[in-house]
Amino acid sequence: MPEEIPSFSQEESDRQKSTAAMPVHIGIIMDGNGRWARQQGKARTQGHMEGLEAAKRIVKTCADIGIKYLTLYAFSTENWKRARTEVSFLMRLIKKHLKKEYDFYRRNRVRVVHCGDLAGMPADVVGEIEKVTADTARFEGLTANLAINYGGRDEIVRAVNRLLVENEGLHRVSEENIRRHLDHPWIPDPDLIIRTGGEIRLSNFLLWELAYAELYFSPKLWPDWQGKDLLEAIQTFRQRQRRFGDVQKD
Ligand code: FPP
Repeated sequence: MPEEIPSFSQEESDRQKSTAAMPVHIGIIMDGNGRWARQQGKARTQGHMEGLEAAKRIVKTCADIGIKYLTLYAFSTENWKRARTEVSFLMRLIKKHLKKEYDFYRRNRVRVVHCGDLAGMPADVVGEIEKVTADTARFEGLTANLAINYGGRDEIVRAVNRLLVENEGLHRVSEENIRRHLDHPWIPDPDLIIRTGGEIRLSNFLLWELAYAELYFSPKLWPDWQGKDLLEAIQTFRQRQRRFGDVQKD
């Protein structure tokens, strides 16, 4: 457990409850690459390449407007079921992107971190993830959390297993000690989860962390997403009344 785990201050929690507050942490399920490609008469791989460009546009917008944390669902624990050619294309695309975009992250002061299970991923991809997370560790702007080989249930299971290894003979767990063993306990829970591409489901994304997140579903396919689509989602979020289980206070 290398990270320092802050406890959130009263001020932070009041800020999060205020209706018009900006989201501190946004999570995005980037869906619709394949359908976008089909609509254009192109191969699915072309859809993923355009999806990567959309991801860069949204990272840049988040950095520009001062969002602190963005989690992007790039490859799920279930995505291994896809055709072998598509899986290896996605792995190569992610690796190539991480290798060549250091300047993009440096210019935008973006710190890259990873969530998900590194075990079982190709060693060269793991190497690039480790390199970019080390090289960008000092950047103080947006933290871009790339979910690669990530599943919400898998994260909870890995957290509990880490807890058991650290505490021999443990008989009971608590919310707090599970939370502290998640992939990044120092990142606050997402305020806003966006899914593009028209499906209304969460597909095993940040299951523990999204307990009180506001959900936003957009019919637009991911490769078509522009900065203004993110601003629209944020505007909708800011009009929501968040109560965190409490009653409405006028
Ligand atoms: C879902 O669309 C998209 C994915 C499984 C891959 C998303 C990955 C990227 C956009 C690359 C981003 C990488 C980084 C490093 C940020 P789909 O293929 O399920 O689309 P469909 O539902 O239309 O078939």
